Amino acid sequence: MPLTTVRTPHPSPLAVDEREVILAAPGFGQHMTDHMLTMEWSQESGWSDASLQPYGPIQLDPAASVLHYAQEIFEGLKAYRHEDGSVWTFRPEKNAERLNASARRMVLPELPAEDFVESLRVLVEADEAWVPAFGDGEKSLYLRPFMFGSAAFLGLRPSTRVRYSVIASPAESIFVGGPKPITLWISEGYARAGAGGTGAAKCGGNYASALAGQIEGSANGCDQAVFLDSATHTKVDELGGMNVFFVMRDGTLVTPELTGTILPGITRMSVLELAHEFGLRPVERAVPIQEWRDGVVSSEVLEVFACGTAAIITPIGELRWAGGSAPSTAGEFGGEVTRGMRERLLSMQQGRSEDTYGWMTRLV
Ligand code: PLP
Ligand code: COI
Repeated sequence: MPLTTVRTPHPSPLAVDEREVILAAPGFGQHMTDHMLTMEWSQESGWSDASLQPYGPIQLDPAASVLHYAQEIFEGLKAYRHEDGSVWTFRPEKNAERLNASARRMVLPELPAEDFVESLRVLVEADEAWVPAFGDGEKSLYLRPFMFGSAAFLGLRPSTRVRYSVIASPAESIFVGGPKPITLWISEGYARAGAGGTGAAKCGGNYASALAGQIEGSANGCDQAVFLDSATHTKVDELGGMNVFFVMRDGTLVTPELTGTILPGITRMSVLELAHEFGLRPVERAVPIQEWRDGVVSSEVLEVFACGTAAIITPIGELRWAGGSAPSTAGEFGGEVTRGMRERLLSMQQGRSEDTYGWMTRLV
């Protein structure tokens, strides 16, 4: 049975006109809604104290384990308003599964999937006014569930107290100006994850470790960095917050196989399942970076795109590395498959096309 949530509504939520100003141009991750949801876990009692409360700072003991040993995991998914006013999200049971896979890797407690989905529902219901209108471009309400060790203890062991929380933030495209091709930097010196490490878990540490590669990329005029396998530095893993796909001339839609160092994206999984609609054969295999560099020149590689909740589907243009570059095949707005896949996913999420796979879950 799902946990019962005690609701404490915000005594003074943001004024309607101020909220409308934010919703007109929300950016990504800059503004939080009026409420947050929290739950507590302890070794003795398991999950308890589900509570919806005004959004605000949390009190944490300076010795809390997350601050020292980074025992933290998170998820990301979006809520979309449909034409009839209802609010839906995309495959949340997959996020619940992945949260629990991340929890097992980081020795945090699992959260039953029904409690996970209920936690999203309770927050979105309270902050429904923050869900952008149907037909308002690509805007959505980005949901950020996260979990961390909160016990105050400096010894190295799994935390005996854990907090789970969900916050929400109205979002438009993560890249300013919409789905224009992004330029990628090959991070040859910095790896994001290694064999036996935490690459397949959605834990905060992975993102901290990717920042140096990202900054190096920015310094070289690129939008994002692409990380290689840390053992041989020859195979494509993924971006700091997105998976990557290749549309090949031979009719395959290729993505790096899940070796344990790549985050198993829910968009990635969905793109693989949608490939047949585009007459393409989905293939998960190792992708040598050399194949990419050469393929865009020889036209073996027709299109390259990145995918993820925040990015949806984003065309990838030029590839750069220390001392070289490979040209874009993306044109001004990305190739045909990239644009088609983007519209297929987005139209389903926004309720503009039929949910033939049963991927959408109604929240409100
Ligand atoms: N890879 C990383 C490292 C990510 O952070 C994300 C975003 O969540 C993805 C891939 C894409 O995953 P999803 O499609 O589930 O959002
Ligand atoms: C997401 O797409 O949900 C992500 O996690 C990307 C985020 C790191 C900005």
